Amino acid sequence: MLINTLKRAAREAGLLMKSEMDSDFKIHNKEGINNLVTEVDHASEKLIMSIIAESFPDHFILSEEVGEIVMDSEYKWVIDPIDGTVNFANGIPICCVSIGVEYQGKMILGAIYNPFLEEFYFAEKSKGSTLNEKPIHVSRKEEVIKSCLVTGFPYTYLDEPNGPLEVFSKLIRKGVPVRRLGSAAMDLAWVAAGRFDGFYEHKLNAWDSAAGFILVEEAGGRVSDFNGDVYSPYQPHIVATNGLIHDELLKWVNGTI
Ligand code: IPD
Ligand code: CA
Ligand code: CA
Repeated sequence: MLINTLKRAAREAGLLMKSEMDSDFKIHNKEGINNLVTEVDHASEKLIMSIIAESFPDHFILSEEVGEIVMDSEYKWVIDPIDGTVNFANGIPICCVSIGVEYQGKMILGAIYNPFLEEFYFAEKSKGSTLNEKPIHVSRKEEVIKSCLVTGFPYTYLDEPNGPLEVFSKLIRKGVPVRRLGSAAMDLAWVAAGRFDGFYEHKLNAWDSAAGFILVEEAGGRVSDFNGDVYSPYQPHIVATNGLIHDELLKWVNGTI
């Protein structure tokens, strides 16, 4: 029931997103110049929450636009109704719905759906990750220099040692391809699928990574904070890799290489 509800919510919200992309939706600014939210983000969120409430009205919800709906429950749904809103608002089909489910504080399920590419990613704790129901696995590259990486940049510039631009510039100067898609959930899904060898980002929220990090782990990869410690989506830093390049990528991110 939990899995069916999760899959249904991600699928229906994704289809809504797809059907609305070319419509005349309103766009508003959140804090920062290009931190956008569209009417479709709100509609997607409403739809996801109504589907969850049909079966689980007493579950805790954390969703990007409404925030927390605190319930005395061991289950928590962590929802990004559109990840990649700037892409969505510009008609760029690299965006998705991302939903993770926690039980007793541990992520147990994740679903990411990109309806434009017709890619539905799903992970269940200890049972692996799938893309359109077929098992997926992380890549096997062993060195950062031979890897294809992906990253993201926050809406407001982070002026700190080893900030996003410094790390990016060091990797690019060495000739490492580092892509920037504009959707952290897609970045993570594509690490899980073995398309990227690694992903790092300096400032994410729980809803950006909740589903993606379990997808990477269940596809055989490793996810951590910048210290290499066990990942929590409730802190901002993430390094997610095929496992083989993880320790080396941590050094690049920390400026110790
Ligand atoms: C954003 C995307 C982007 C990341 C930003 C996120 P949103 O989410 O995941 O890739 O770099 O930090 O805020 O705003 O499109 O849901
Ligand atoms: Ca997001
Ligand atoms: Ca979002």
